[in-house]
Amino acid sequence: MNDSTLQKTEALLAQHHQQHLLRFRGQLSDSQIQLLLAQIRKIDFSLLAGAPKLTTTHNVSRADCAAAPSSVIAWPNSATDHQIRRNAGKTGCQLLSDAKIAVITVAGGQGSRLGFEHPKGMYPIGPKSDRTLFQIYAEQILARRRKHNALIPWYLMTSAATHDETIAFFERHKFFSLDRDTVFFFQQASLPAIDAETGAILMDSPGSLCLSPDGHGGMVTALQSSGCLEALKNQGVEHLFYHQVDNPTAIVCDPILLGLHATRQSQLTTLVVRKTGPEERMGVLVDIDGRTEIIEYTELTGEQAAAIDDNDQWIFWAGNTAIHVFRRDFLEFLTEDDTCLPLHRARKKVNCIDATGAISGRQERDAVKFERFIFDALPLAQRTLIVEGDRQREFNPVKNADGNDSPKTARAALSHIGCQWLHTAEQSVASGTVVEISPLLALTAEDLCERLTLGNITVEDLIG
Ligand code: UD1
Repeated sequence: MNDSTLQKTEALLAQHHQQHLLRFRGQLSDSQIQLLLAQIRKIDFSLLAGAPKLTTTHNVSRADCAAAPSSVIAWPNSATDHQIRRNAGKTGCQLLSDAKIAVITVAGGQGSRLGFEHPKGMYPIGPKSDRTLFQIYAEQILARRRKHNALIPWYLMTSAATHDETIAFFERHKFFSLDRDTVFFFQQASLPAIDAETGAILMDSPGSLCLSPDGHGGMVTALQSSGCLEALKNQGVEHLFYHQVDNPTAIVCDPILLGLHATRQSQLTTLVVRKTGPEERMGVLVDIDGRTEIIEYTELTGEQAAAIDDNDQWIFWAGNTAIHVFRRDFLEFLTEDDTCLPLHRARKKVNCIDATGAISGRQERDAVKFERFIFDALPLAQRTLIVEGDRQREFNPVKNADGNDSPKTARAALSHIGCQWLHTAEQSVASGTVVEISPLLALTAEDLCERLTLGNITVEDLIG
């Protein structure tokens, strides 16, 4: 190993009071030291010193200046909206057929809250078949490709914790019949956790730091550094349908949403739904100083989340489904300044070693973790569109092992949607019947009616 590299690193660490990171170097092999130095080189020390753009956990002033969002448009559902719906759907379908659309799925998270220590996308959720979340999205994309006879590239963002296992899972499942050169994995970066009291960077082992994914806002830098943003441009993609890995009822590449986004020339479109109550753990869209922003639920006190305005209207009603559509050139614009998305910090318990040497073995420390949120791009856009969607149809996430937003509620929602489609197709099914409709059979109730009429499938194929 090069002595001068080590000396330079020591000097850098001393400058930032983080010398403990090399404390165990005598116990490490050369290759372990190299790995540690590589982790240290990636640290942004300005972040630890309290970078000016850091937001606080309870950003009281932002929430106190917030008003209910003024520019939300309702989903064009009513009979009078027929023409708007038709036109938007037509535009969206055209964009799909012209291969102007790609999908981006953020899948850096594990299913820890579910007690599932794997990439969350591997979680089995199909009410009848146990299809995984990944399979449901893959089948939606494959069905859309077939319907619009066009390539819809799929970009999945993984993290250090999910990357290898996600790829191995796709390999094992033969990419769910998607051509493997149309599915792209890119890995987000990691950021170190620091001791909440002392600011010292925490260590996971003598040769490695406690690192965690840099939040889905890390997508912007990761898209660029991986070459994916360039690839999207070369593929002629103009808009990206973005969704989280945990919502099996997200309508991937919904032509109506894509059409509304494109006709209104939005750079960033967001689908919201009405929150069930102030305590629901959803980010909320608000207006602050004439700009639309999202305040994350962790950054609101209970009292703020329940606040009403002078007209007795609930301010924080518009829940972020984390379904967005981005213009590709807007993402390119965001890469011009890689600090344009602020860092949020969260207090978490972190399991680590004591690098000061005072205590041996592992311990839980109160730590601060840092993340960037992709939705902080909203106020940076010149033109945004906020659409209120149908909650039952489009927002049924899998977050918790039990209770709200659990596998049980998500499976029930998938089954309920299936029952509704069967009713539209004039098929009666007893209430409580388990129904599952593969996206490969039908993407909409109308598709299902057609398949049943043609006799390609029977109701019995769909019920459990
Ligand atoms: C998230 C949103 C919240 C929204 C809710 C809707 C954030 C900070 N908040 O809350 O505004 O109302 O979903 O369901 O996202 N992920 C990564 N890399 C990361 C962190 C997360 O890929 O570094 C992915 C996860 O795989 C998951 C998604 O982002 O798909 C959401 O992450 P999670 O931390 O579960 O957010 P929520 O607290 O549920």
